[in-house]
Amino acid sequence: MGNENSIWMQDVEMPSFMALHEDITVDAAVIGGGLCGILTAYYLKKAGLKTVVLEAARIGSGQTGNTTAKITSQHGTIYQKLIKEHGEEKARQYADANERAIEEYRKLVSKLNIDCDFTDCSAYLFTLNTPELLEKELEAAKQLGINAYCTTETELPFRVASALCFENQARFHPLKFLSAVAAELDIYENTKVKAVSKDAVETECGNVKAKYVIFCCHYPFINFPGFYFLKLHQERSLVTACRNVPQINGMYLDTDGDGFSFRMHNDILLMGGDGYRTGENPCGGKAADLQEISKKYWPESISVASWSAQDCISIDGVPYIGRFSDSEPNWYVATGFGKWGMTSSMASALMIKNIIVKGKSQWDDIFSPKRFNATSAKGMMKESIQAVRGLGKRFFGVPQLALAQIQEGRGGIIEHNGHKVGVYKNENGEMFAVEPYCTHLGCQLEWNPDEKTWDCPCHGSRFDYEGNLIDNPAQSGLNKKKIDL
Ligand code: FES
Repeated sequence: MGNENSIWMQDVEMPSFMALHEDITVDAAVIGGGLCGILTAYYLKKAGLKTVVLEAARIGSGQTGNTTAKITSQHGTIYQKLIKEHGEEKARQYADANERAIEEYRKLVSKLNIDCDFTDCSAYLFTLNTPELLEKELEAAKQLGINAYCTTETELPFRVASALCFENQARFHPLKFLSAVAAELDIYENTKVKAVSKDAVETECGNVKAKYVIFCCHYPFINFPGFYFLKLHQERSLVTACRNVPQINGMYLDTDGDGFSFRMHNDILLMGGDGYRTGENPCGGKAADLQEISKKYWPESISVASWSAQDCISIDGVPYIGRFSDSEPNWYVATGFGKWGMTSSMASALMIKNIIVKGKSQWDDIFSPKRFNATSAKGMMKESIQAVRGLGKRFFGVPQLALAQIQEGRGGIIEHNGHKVGVYKNENGEMFAVEPYCTHLGCQLEWNPDEKTWDCPCHGSRFDYEGNLIDNPAQSGLNKKKIDL
């Protein structure tokens, strides 16, 4: 089972927008046409700023189209960790920002009369064996003013030791929502930003002069300033969609280690989980594993789709939202949303609008991209070691495969004429060869057998088997190679 289009993408014909075809001057240029970019542009425009969105491909074609679309302030067992590591005041800011984001979705859906299957529901964390963890999370949530309670009654087809419920959360169809909000905006699709210098945004098809530049492009592709490549890594997670299961009203997330997540969309159950750090899936088979687990819980279920999502993870699990760096006071960033892109996108949009218009937002401290503490130092060290490993493998690793061992439908790194070459052989025996080094900072790529892609274990860039770029921070595709047979 490979990566397919998500049910959201199969369901909606997205509006299209033309590419930029001239030089323009605006107040704000938002880079990235996912949920974060579209909402940020919407609120900036409402605040009176002439705003454009610059999207490299099509709006919603990245993570917004692959999410499970839970609108919730329940982000795993984060509140006890936030109180411990950041103190009650900053933890409260995180809770407020995410609770407010849910409310803002409700308001916007009603104000613009958006038909996006928006449904109020409860969110649950559940455990089969460690109820103490959820008791502590309940205490932390209550301390921060969140309405919550623990129960053992759920709609799941197995017994839980405990489930922590947050009420008044929601779910929706992310692309129906996105296309309705996008209709209000000036958007350029197929307009890839190549470089940004002060107020000059250079794209492949025209230049934009903008007082404010906002990076809502998932992983910031500018290395210096900002140094986000030291503060972020990326993870992939899988989703399988099945029919023929009993209706479940709540949204569920397992806290026992596998991170399984469940929610319904109409009569389709979305089950997520089996995540891994990008570039670390050498054996494959994860989508099949997930499908097998869904069959175990719902034997009558029928799989209708499966796909993957890619998430940016910050060092402390809290997004970076605010000024990009001290040296570029008119650049802004929103990234590191972890698995929680829906509320984080809305919170980012409200925050960035407030910082630009009013000079600050009430949640600045907890989300500040500048924050630095013992956890940050340890995390940056870990990310640096990971990058050194990726580079070390490039220069000192010996390929484990010979060309003859690459079977049809498989890929891997071989040695050819004294050089390493990344090779994929398709089902017809046709070969595709690339230089297996990431165009971001040069780490050696790893073959991902589930998705037939070359993935970077350092910061998570991804390329298809022909070398075309799929996910940043890399900005360009791989060099193609020739194999003499
Ligand atoms: Fe940074 Fe590959 S993503 S080196």
